Amino acid sequence: MEFNNDPVCIKDLEKLAMRVMPGGAWGYYDSGANGEQTKRDNEDSFSEYRLHPRMLRDVSQISTETTILGQKVKTPLGVAPCAMHKLAHPGGEAATSRAAAKNGSIMILSTYSTTSLEKVIAQGNGDTQYWMQLYVYQNRSVSEKLVRRAEKAGFKALVLTVDAPVLGRRLVDARNKFNPPPHLRLENFMDPEVANDPAGYSSSLAYSTSETFGATFGANGDQTLSWANGISWLKSITSMPIIVKGILTAEDTRLAIEHGCAGVIVSNHGGRQLDGALATIDALPQVVEAADDKIEVYLDGGVRRGSDIFKALALGARAVFVARPVLWGLAYKGEHGAYHALDLLQKELELTMTLSGTTKVSEIDESYVYRPANRWIRYAPGKNGNPKKLLAKL
Ligand SMILES: Cc1cc2nc3c(=O)[nH]c(=O)nc-3n(C[C@H](O)[C@H](O)[C@H](O)COP(=O)(O)O)c2cc1C
Repeated sequence: MEFNNDPVCIKDLEKLAMRVMPGGAWGYYDSGANGEQTKRDNEDSFSEYRLHPRMLRDVSQISTETTILGQKVKTPLGVAPCAMHKLAHPGGEAATSRAAAKNGSIMILSTYSTTSLEKVIAQGNGDTQYWMQLYVYQNRSVSEKLVRRAEKAGFKALVLTVDAPVLGRRLVDARNKFNPPPHLRLENFMDPEVANDPAGYSSSLAYSTSETFGATFGANGDQTLSWANGISWLKSITSMPIIVKGILTAEDTRLAIEHGCAGVIVSNHGGRQLDGALATIDALPQVVEAADDKIEVYLDGGVRRGSDIFKALALGARAVFVARPVLWGLAYKGEHGAYHALDLLQKELELTMTLSGTTKVSEIDESYVYRPANRWIRYAPGKNGNPKKLLAKL
């Protein structure tokens, strides 16, 4: 691996970002909800799963290529939607977009981008897939216009975030009385085409940055949104496939299938919404089972190493998305730093594949991981105290 003088792992990148970011912005990126149990669990739970590598295989050629929504992609590693990249660096989402394109990663753009969706997708190289993340507002015409713009601009899927009918309570932000700095604009709500529209599309959701972000979010979000009234409405206004982000249960996965969604993202919003919710890697197996290969399953939350990606793929995720690591990279060195974050994870994934004896993503299955709790089951002592009797598979 070539690191030059850059940080050698995501944890180092995190420390650097903490040093360079102003306290309020750092708090906004870093914080989880309430006691931050879920935020911690997302990371910690990956280490509950251990690798189960195979040896003496030809690992001279490793490919992370796979297909997502029927399209070839270079890697199953993508960028999760995050509000306000310009809090990290003036390059903002445009810089992240170029970094994602360079790594061949899908980028999901947040509704609350500080760069317009048209500008973000224009940074791509033609091969990169962009997906648009959506919140549904009481004033549905606001959401509808965003959806139509995204489709027109070339976004390939719509990611409906369903775990945030209201904003979670982030104590760090409350203590810091955090508000985005006034020079930042949520540019998706400042569409030049409609800026002069007397109906006031832009102004209806143009957050005055002096307002509390959370309060504005809560006041505009549609808390009546449901499986019954949400997905069919979205399907009536777009032909983009719909992916539901924020699923943690088999029950909701089956509902996503019933309502014709193309995929689900196993996510708890990086521990920023319901504190105490299950870690995503722990929720993944039940979602994969319920999905039954009828829809694609993706995961985000707590991924900090290439081996975490490998574990999620082994447990049935088709792709894995990261949020904070990319923001940390961006804070560290703009486009270069965001790319570095993705490249670190990408190279670590390739290394994990090599050392586990897998050369293709399709070869990574559940036989390559198990939970240490099961180690004692798998290798429980045999009859005469002789160890290592294989009793159970994961
Ligand atoms: C600063 C920040 C802003 C976020 N903004 C959004 C957003 O606008 N929309 C959304 O669906 N998820 C948002 N998320 C959640 C991420 O998409 C993702 O679910 C989660 O952060 C992944 O966990 P990780 O940060 O541990 O990689 C945000 C997360 C962070 C850290």
